[in-house]
Amino acid sequence: MRLIIQEDYAKMSRWAACHIVEAINSHKGDRPFVLGLPTGSSPIGVYRELVEMNKSGKVSFKNVVTFNMDEYVGLPRTHDQSYWYFMHDNLFDHIDIPADQINILNGMAEDPEEECRRYEEKIKALGPIDLFMGGIGVDGHIAFNEPFTSLNSRTGVRKLTTDTRIVNSRFFGNDPEAVPAEALSVGVGTVMDSKEVLILINGHNKARALAATVEGGVSQMWTCSAIQLHNNAIIACDEEACGELKVDTYKYFKDIEKSQRL
Ligand code: GLP
Repeated sequence: MRLIIQEDYAKMSRWAACHIVEAINSHKGDRPFVLGLPTGSSPIGVYRELVEMNKSGKVSFKNVVTFNMDEYVGLPRTHDQSYWYFMHDNLFDHIDIPADQINILNGMAEDPEEECRRYEEKIKALGPIDLFMGGIGVDGHIAFNEPFTSLNSRTGVRKLTTDTRIVNSRFFGNDPEAVPAEALSVGVGTVMDSKEVLILINGHNKARALAATVEGGVSQMWTCSAIQLHNNAIIACDEEACGELKVDTYKYFKDIEKSQRL
């Protein structure tokens, strides 16, 4: 695992966006580049950078297929807190990606289980996902894989914990009851099948989760810790998120990344 420690949120976002652009631009072969994407506040800076780089001609998304991580159950696309709305508002409406190359789970599907099966199959058919970017919840959840979700899980329906509904209530008028109780989400196993995983972790409130992910054991309690078993995983974080890391861990990753640049 690589841990890229950047001074602040802006620099973390810039680093991650440049990394994604480099991966897209160096992609070879006939099939499109397949990119997994998250929602949440963490990736907003990355999306801003990607829009800029697309506008200035540094990258094109014409040969990119995307799969989003998750979607709330019961929110229509037009709801400003649906992840469909979020993704179009923050990224897709501003870049040159063809609409039929965007994949987002349908939280309004009549048969949610079938929707998840179909999604997993489509990932298999078009994949493997070349790069899956993710965020992380304060309890270490990746996508909507809450604590104690199997680390082998595939795309499916997930119940949100009370903790997550409280944390996400900031987008729903501070009312946890207004946050949907369920979501459709790719599984931890779905993310782990990707060729590369890039997780963004920023801010003081993610410090415990970062320490558990990097220094703790692989555990279903912190589902993000599964990436310790991935061959090509990167965490991009800011200094604020490093507060709970051991000094030696911090120094180790700072040293190793410095030498990689030489
Ligand atoms: C939600 C999403 C996750 C996201 C997490 C963190 O629960 N399902 O995919 O990583 O929020 O969000 P934020 O980046 O706003 O802290």
